Amino acid sequence: MTTDVPLQLLGGLTAREFLRDYWQKKPLLIRQAIPDFESPVSPDELAGLALEEEVESRLVIEHGERPWELRRGPFAEDAFGQLPEHDWTLLVQAVDQFVPEVAELLKQFNFLPSWRIDDVMVSFAAPGGGVGPHYDNYDVFLLQAHGQRRWRIGQMCDADSALLEHSDLRILADFAQTDEWVLEPGDMLYLPPRLAHFGTAEDDCMTYSVGFRAPSAAEVLTHFTDFLAQFLPDEERYSDAGTTPTADPHQIQRDALDRLKALLAEHMGDERLLLTWFGQFMTEPRYPELIAGTEVDDDEFLAAIEQGAVLVRNPSARMAWSEVDVGLVLFASGQSRLLPANLKDLLRLICAADALHADNLGQWLADEEGRKLLCELVKQGSLEFADE
Ligand code: SIN
Ligand code: CO
Repeated sequence: MTTDVPLQLLGGLTAREFLRDYWQKKPLLIRQAIPDFESPVSPDELAGLALEEEVESRLVIEHGERPWELRRGPFAEDAFGQLPEHDWTLLVQAVDQFVPEVAELLKQFNFLPSWRIDDVMVSFAAPGGGVGPHYDNYDVFLLQAHGQRRWRIGQMCDADSALLEHSDLRILADFAQTDEWVLEPGDMLYLPPRLAHFGTAEDDCMTYSVGFRAPSAAEVLTHFTDFLAQFLPDEERYSDAGTTPTADPHQIQRDALDRLKALLAEHMGDERLLLTWFGQFMTEPRYPELIAGTEVDDDEFLAAIEQGAVLVRNPSARMAWSEVDVGLVLFASGQSRLLPANLKDLLRLICAADALHADNLGQWLADEEGRKLLCELVKQGSLEFADE
C-alpha cells in the first residue's frame, strides 16, 4: 500500500503523517472520512444479529433495573419492544464476521497491520443512548453510520482512575471534558487508548467502532512463558557451576541474580519462538468455534478447484505471515506452519485475495507444497469452499 498519498479516510493526512502524529497519541476528528456513508446494516438487521446464538451482543440501559444496567445477548425476539423510548444502546461485536460489506470497510484501514485489528462493533442507540463516560485500553476509530452522535472527550486515564461503584460497566466517576463534536454519517473520530470519551445519541443513531488488539504486558509475559515452557526439559535448571565460597551462607549474592538473568535472556531472546508465539497469539480467532474444518483429501481438493470451486477465507479466520531465516511462516487462526521461501506470493494471495480459484492459483496448483498448504487450510477451516 502507498503510505504517502493523502487519504480521505484520514482527513487528507497521509498514512505516514497520521501514524507519526496521532496513532496511539492524540484524537483526530475527520469530517466525511467516508463521504455519503450509508450503513450496510440497518437497525433491524442489527437487532436480528443480536438474537443469534453465535453473536456477542449487549444492551446498556441507562435507567434500567439499576443505573447503567447491562444485559447480555443473545436476546429474545420481544426484548427490544419492551425498551424505553430513549437512553439505551444495543452493541453487537464482530459484525465484520457476519456482514461481508462491513468486513469490506476494513480494507480502508490497510495502512495498519491486519493482525492489529480486532473487530468492528456496531451500536444502535435510541435518542440519549450511550454507554457512559469511560476509557478503553485500545485504539478505536468511531465511524458515524446513521443519525447523529455527540462525542465528548476528556482526560487520559489509567488503572487508578476512579470508577462508579455498583455499575455493571466501567464508568468513570470523573469526566474532565476537553472537546465536543456532533458527528454526522460518514464522520469519524479516532481515539488513542485510555482517552476518556462519552458518546450520546442525538437521535436514533448507529456507530461503527473499529477496534484493535494489543496484548497487555502481563499477557505477553504469561502467555509467552507458558509457550516457551513446553519446549524446556525439566532437567534444565538453575545451575551454578564454578561458583565461589560465600562469606555468609544465608545471603543471596549478586551472582545468583546474574545467573537467573542469563537463563531468562537465553530463552526470552529466542526470536524464532517469540515470533511463533506472537503470530499464533495475534491470529487467534475471537470465536474459535466458528472455524470448523472440512474433511477433504488432496485429490478431491484439486479436482474441486479444477472444476471451478472457489475458496474464500472464513470470515472468522485471522491470518498473517512472516519471514524467518529458514523460510516463511504462515499463521492461520492460532496455528503456524513453516514453509519454503518460494511460497511467498501464494501466502500473500491467501492472506489478501477475496477469492482463490483455478485462475488466480494457476501455477500453485502444480506446486506440491502449495497445494498441500491450501488443502490443510481447508481442513483446518481458515479457508472454505464458497457456496455455489
Ligand atoms: C458506542 O458505540 O456506543 C460505544 C463505543 C465506545 O465508546 O467505545
Ligand atoms: Co469506548
